[in-house]
Amino acid sequence: PKARPLTGLKLMLTAGPTREALDPVRYISNHSSGKMGFALATAARALGAEVTLVSGPVTLATPTGVRRVNVESAQDMHDAVMAGIGEQHIFIACAAVADYAPKVVASHKIKKTQADNMVVELTKNPDIVASVASLQHKPFTVGFAAETRDVEKYALDKLKRKNLDMIAANDVSGSDRGFNSDQNALSVFWPGGQHHLPLAGKAELAEQLLTLIAKRYHDLH
Ligand code: PMT
Repeated sequence: PKARPLTGLKLMLTAGPTREALDPVRYISNHSSGKMGFALATAARALGAEVTLVSGPVTLATPTGVRRVNVESAQDMHDAVMAGIGEQHIFIACAAVADYAPKVVASHKIKKTQADNMVVELTKNPDIVASVASLQHKPFTVGFAAETRDVEKYALDKLKRKNLDMIAANDVSGSDRGFNSDQNALSVFWPGGQHHLPLAGKAELAEQLLTLIAKRYHDLH
């Protein structure tokens, strides 16, 4: 039988996109399908963890044995994560969270007018992974970094700035990986180390990333 290095550990992760409402029928979102996060939830369960999956709107089935919490906006996702984070050993932020949301959500459908241009004012959303990493009793916190250029530079910057224990950098400039693809490749960094996980199916990659996370977690505890 395979080793189950996450046995006895509680692991929470975020997955999918968020939706930021403009009015009752429109929103701002992104191309995250949830596939990477759901693959991580499945693999974490298989490696023995008790898994809570906080998911934005996606069309995927809940992995067997995983507790799922559905959310829509970044603020909802933040609130769901903070409500359950106290008892977690490991937190992985795989969701593609909107950095900004419309400042005002219109209570009725916005009407087309004579004007050719329209301005929507946006306001910053809470940074979920940074909120988790700033807790006094923070879990082992893993972020993702979706970048289209200077992947390593921006990933190392996020690792430091957000006080993370590990970051998985995703080059999302190619269509064979990242958003909505069945495959991905990750460059993983932690203080004092790094490891490249080459292009593979998201299930295989999820298991490899969690094996790295488990190893690093047990090195520190
Ligand atoms: O869902 P798939 O189609 O399978 O695609 C997978 C993926 C490409 C979405 C995934 O692998 C990935 O890279 N997720 C992170 C995407 C992202 O938003 O990256 P970022 O560089 O903008 O954010 C950095 C980190 O901060 C991420 O861990 C993100 O979850 C987190 N974050 C960002 C903003 C915010 N308000 N709160 C956050 O927690």
